[in-house]
Formats: sequence, C-alpha cells, structure tokens
Amino acid sequence: MRTYIVGNWKLNFTVGEASIYLHKIMKSLPNYRDIQVIVAPPMMALQPLSLQVDRHKVKLCAQNAFYRDYGAFTGETSFSQLRGAVDYCLVGHSERRYIFHEDDKVIAKKVAAAIRNKITPILCIGETESERAFGETADVIRDQLASGLSEVSDDDVSKVIIAYEPVWAISSVKSAKLATPDEVAEVIKLIKTSLGDIYGAKVVDEIPVLFGGSVGPSNAGGYLTVPGVDGLLAGGASLILSEFVDIINVAKRVRS
Ligand code: 13P
Repeated sequence: MRTYIVGNWKLNFTVGEASIYLHKIMKSLPNYRDIQVIVAPPMMALQPLSLQVDRHKVKLCAQNAFYRDYGAFTGETSFSQLRGAVDYCLVGHSERRYIFHEDDKVIAKKVAAAIRNKITPILCIGETESERAFGETADVIRDQLASGLSEVSDDDVSKVIIAYEPVWAISSVKSAKLATPDEVAEVIKLIKTSLGDIYGAKVVDEIPVLFGGSVGPSNAGGYLTVPGVDGLLAGGASLILSEFVDIINVAKRVRS
C-alpha cells in the first residue's frame, strides 16, 4: 500500500498565499510514486488550486463539505460541487465535531455523500483527553468508526481512509501532549479489529489508516513504523514548507 502524507492547512493562508505555497511544495518534491502527498487548503482556494496542481505530485483534499447536493442550505458547499476539483475530503475532523457540533449521523451522511461523488472520505476519529482518562478510548473509537461508516456498503468500504487523531495530541489543543508510538499502536490495532468485525478480515488491509496529532519531522519516522499505520495527517507542520517536505522525505526513507 502507498504511504499517505496529508497536510491539513485548516483556516490558514489567503488564496494567493495558498497558491504560492502549493507551487513551492511541488517544486521541492520529487515525484515519489509510493508516497501519496495530499494537501487540504481552505475551501476558497480549492478551485484555483485545482487548476494549478500537478496531480502526479500532489492531490487536493477539502476540509469539509455538506452531504446534500443542492438546495436551501445557506453557506454550505456540497460534495457534488467539489467533484473534479478534489480527490479527497476530511470528514468528522475533531474541530468539526467539537467546535461545529457535527454529530455521528451528519458525519455518516458526509462519508456516504463523498463516496457517491467519487471523492475519497478521510474519516477522522479520536478520543478526547477526558474520554481517555475515564478509560473510554476503545468505546469511543469503536462507536465513531461504526457510526461513521454506517451508510457505507461492503463494496464501498475500501474507498474510505481512516485517520486516528487523538484530540489531546492535536497541537492547537491547549494541553496537547505527544502520543507515544505504543499508544498509537494500541488504537490502530483496535481500529483494524473493529473494521474486521464490521466488514470481514479481508477488507482490513485495503483500508488505509493514518495517524495525526502534532506530527512533525522528528516524530514522523516513529509513527510510520507503528504496525498498521499507512500514513500521517499533519496540521501545524504542514504549514511550514521545510517541515512538510521533511515529513515526506522521512516517509520515503522509512517506508521504502
Ligand atoms: P497538528 O499536527 O497541528 O497537531 O494538527 C493535527 C490535525 O488536526 C490534522 O488534521
């Protein structure tokens, strides 16, 4: 399986800045065939960047979209409108869950809408600090996974990417801590087991599972050698050219 390195730019960069930054990323990157580099710019930048991007090197990802294709939904952008512009879309990122109150039902509909529109959903799951402290991590992970995939058929489940992002390890969270590779390994194993329970063991190896949470050049290698981790989802580090490129080069070194 290819290794996925995803940069979530969140609410950063103007359209002009995003365009210059994408240009620099493409210039700095060799064409690593076994590493899939993906960036998730803000919505406004997706259309112009889709005309600029060299898809052999970098693929575009939306950070969010709405599950209905059209209608009276002021302020929303649909997966059908993004079709052709992006190949991926984050769904259920913890910032969507906790700041914008997206619940599991909405997230399940978004995963289904992405697949319907030929966009690969990157379903983000992860426990909060207090859920971990109360020993609820396994339940939270199983629930978010099962409900997030509840509208996906057996035939389509291999079109989904899962990203495990413990909320307490995300750099913008005040009390953020680094997850240890052992902590990551335990949850990745649980994700694989849960996928196997729902869809059967055969499909498990076809679904990439990424890790995210304060990923940077210095810890990328450690996370990428955790069994079952197929790539990384970086936030802060993906905004700094040298760090993002270093993460990609670490991935090339560790995974080749
Ligand atoms: P950081 O890498 O800044 O912790 O962000 C992680 C994240 O939320 C990526 O989606």
